[in-house]
Amino acid sequence: MATFQLNTFLAAQVARVEAQLAERVERLGPAGTPPKLVEAMRYSLLAGGKRLRPVLCLTFADLVSRGSTVSAVAGDAACALEYVHTYSLVHDDLPAMDNDDYRRGRPTSHKVFGEPLAILAGDALLTEAFALVASGPESVRAALCRELAVASGAAGMVGGQVLDIAEDRPAALDYLIRLHRMKTGALIRGACRMGVLAAGGDADALARAEAYGDAVGLAFQIADDVLDVTATAEQLGKPAGADAAAGRFTFPAVVGLEASRKLANDKVAEAIAAVRPLEGEDGPLAALARYTVERKS
Ligand code: IPE
Ligand code: IPE
Ligand code: MG
Ligand code: MG
Ligand code: MG
Repeated sequence: MATFQLNTFLAAQVARVEAQLAERVERLGPAGTPPKLVEAMRYSLLAGGKRLRPVLCLTFADLVSRGSTVSAVAGDAACALEYVHTYSLVHDDLPAMDNDDYRRGRPTSHKVFGEPLAILAGDALLTEAFALVASGPESVRAALCRELAVASGAAGMVGGQVLDIAEDRPAALDYLIRLHRMKTGALIRGACRMGVLAAGGDADALARAEAYGDAVGLAFQIADDVLDVTATAEQLGKPAGADAAAGRFTFPAVVGLEASRKLANDKVAEAIAAVRPLEGEDGPLAALARYTVERKS
């Protein structure tokens, strides 16, 4: 029976992420930046959210650092991941994509600022993420930029979004797994890997972060699909039942709820096994993996 106190741990890690984000968001928009753009970027960034990707990044960095303080590099990487994730949500909600009106408990960016500014705020968040990771003398920053680009680019998140909207997509499980691994898994996998890289971890730690992130990333998107069917809009802070209404290609739609839950749980077990040699029994990564499928929002 797991005894790790996830609630306490998660609250502390999220508070740390919020503090690091606030510091960097404060610096967004130097003189000459259009104030409305900065407002739109802040609106989406500071709207709450679970902050899972930065938490994973920092948790891996902490583990690899074994108790010594993690550097500003890990903080920059963690915040950059949240910038990229937030941009992906702003664009995902646009009328040309999922056409959703609520996100993180508030009207979506395009509802508040209009489509052109929402698109541009997303563009700016993506671009500023790379400025954040590249700002500093440490040589590891180049590898982190590459990692973030691969995770979020054509072979990662954006590629997955393209598979999601493809009109000729086959209703086949292997296609769905590939799409989920890319659209959501890639950034989560990247977050785990970036934590290890930022803290100077070795090849074994990196391979374990990869295996864990891959499994957790897939489980996380399966859970997102399941929650769309089983949770309320109040719990989610975004529309519920929207996937079925829009005829979206989801796990419950293709294999049903029970098989979806089973696959997600199998992936969580796989993730926990991958990091056991790093953190031992009952560590924070095991608890975070379980949280990805047990969460209610
Ligand atoms: C929502 O991500 C979009 C997916 C990739 C499933 P999250 O569920 O992490 O959203 P926030 O950051 O908590 O709002
Ligand atoms: C979005 O997947 C994944 C992204 C890359 C943003 P969804 O479209 O299922 O995410 P939600 O349900 O709108 O958060
Ligand atoms: Mg979508
Ligand atoms: Mg969506
Ligand atoms: Mg969804």
